[in-house]
Amino acid sequence: MLKNDLIVRAAKGEKTERTPVWLMRQAGRILPEYRAVRNSLSGFKELVETPELAAEVTIQPVDILGVDAAIIFSDILVIPEAMGLTYEMVEKKGPHFPKTISSKSDLNSVHVADPSDLSYVYDAISITKKELDGRVPVIGFAGAPWTIFSYMLEGGGSKTFSKARGMLYTDPQMADQLLDMITESTISYLKHQIEAGANMVQLFDSWAGVLPPNHYSQFSLKYISKICDAIDEVPITVFAKGAWWALEEMGNLKCRTVGLDWNMDPSNARILLPNKTLQGNFDPCALYGSEESIKRDTAQMLEKFKGHPHIANLGHGVYPDTDPNKVKFFIDTVKELSVIDS
Ligand code: CP3
Repeated sequence: MLKNDLIVRAAKGEKTERTPVWLMRQAGRILPEYRAVRNSLSGFKELVETPELAAEVTIQPVDILGVDAAIIFSDILVIPEAMGLTYEMVEKKGPHFPKTISSKSDLNSVHVADPSDLSYVYDAISITKKELDGRVPVIGFAGAPWTIFSYMLEGGGSKTFSKARGMLYTDPQMADQLLDMITESTISYLKHQIEAGANMVQLFDSWAGVLPPNHYSQFSLKYISKICDAIDEVPITVFAKGAWWALEEMGNLKCRTVGLDWNMDPSNARILLPNKTLQGNFDPCALYGSEESIKRDTAQMLEKFKGHPHIANLGHGVYPDTDPNKVKFFIDTVKELSVIDS
């Protein structure tokens, strides 16, 4: 039984006593307590693959920041790895794939993920659930197929995404084949996370915004839609960073919640998505401001969503150099200002 189920109820579109709040990328990045655990290990991957420790850093933001949900500590890149492309996490630089996909023959070196290869994630979820004992819900997650496809072709981050975007023009059939494999892998991965106890799941389409709208429908939303159709056990959130032009079409997805980044106007989004819960969309940079300005900006954000089912969050992941005290202040402010008088 969940003692605090605000976020699950908000995701279902129900009215809540106050607005639930959590932060994308709340586990890791900003907390010294995370750094301490992380520095005692060989690196990021060891932490991801050690369920007891992954559970520990998953719970840290619940204890320290007071968020209304825990997101399981892992990474979207475990899926390409389980499909056959291992990744390295390069200190201060980010992910790197020594091997990438560039031609049809490369497709032979990848396969639909065997969900049992990711059992360390399900174990981390089970341990987290046990240790949380219902204090808050646990959010599972995966990358959206287009974002995972981008990593598999680019081998890391990119300024232009020209390899990934290029293939949509040079070999759309091959792109579809790979996107299908990622989609199938993701569906069984999420189902196993849910079986292990995830109360909600979120798809991160971090590179949505680099696509032209027609390609976004054809090569991203189509696959997100397949995933949403397949997951009916728990509420699902779709966060498509930068894809403001796709909001209306996202109304057709079988997801409960749509995430908004800070470039999106909540007043428009609520008109375009009357039947979806909206999540977001505080500018992560606003957390660099003074407490006074954070309070003013939080009040403004809450006002824009008022009367519409809302889960407060940032418009993207919290930046690593953010002061955890400011994050805590933001969370406390949402809790204080969003109380509905009954
Ligand atoms: O939300 C959470 O706190 C849960 C954990 C989580 C991580 N990655 C841990 C992590 C989640 C949800 C992710 C998702 C993720 N990973 C995304 C989608 C969300 C987004 O921000 O758009 C993407 C694009 C990635 C890929 C990735 N992983 C990058 C680009 C990097 C390097 C830079 C960074 O810090 O984001 C990572 C590494 C990573 N993933 C870290 C953490 C805590 C930092 C690694 C470290 O501890 O050294």
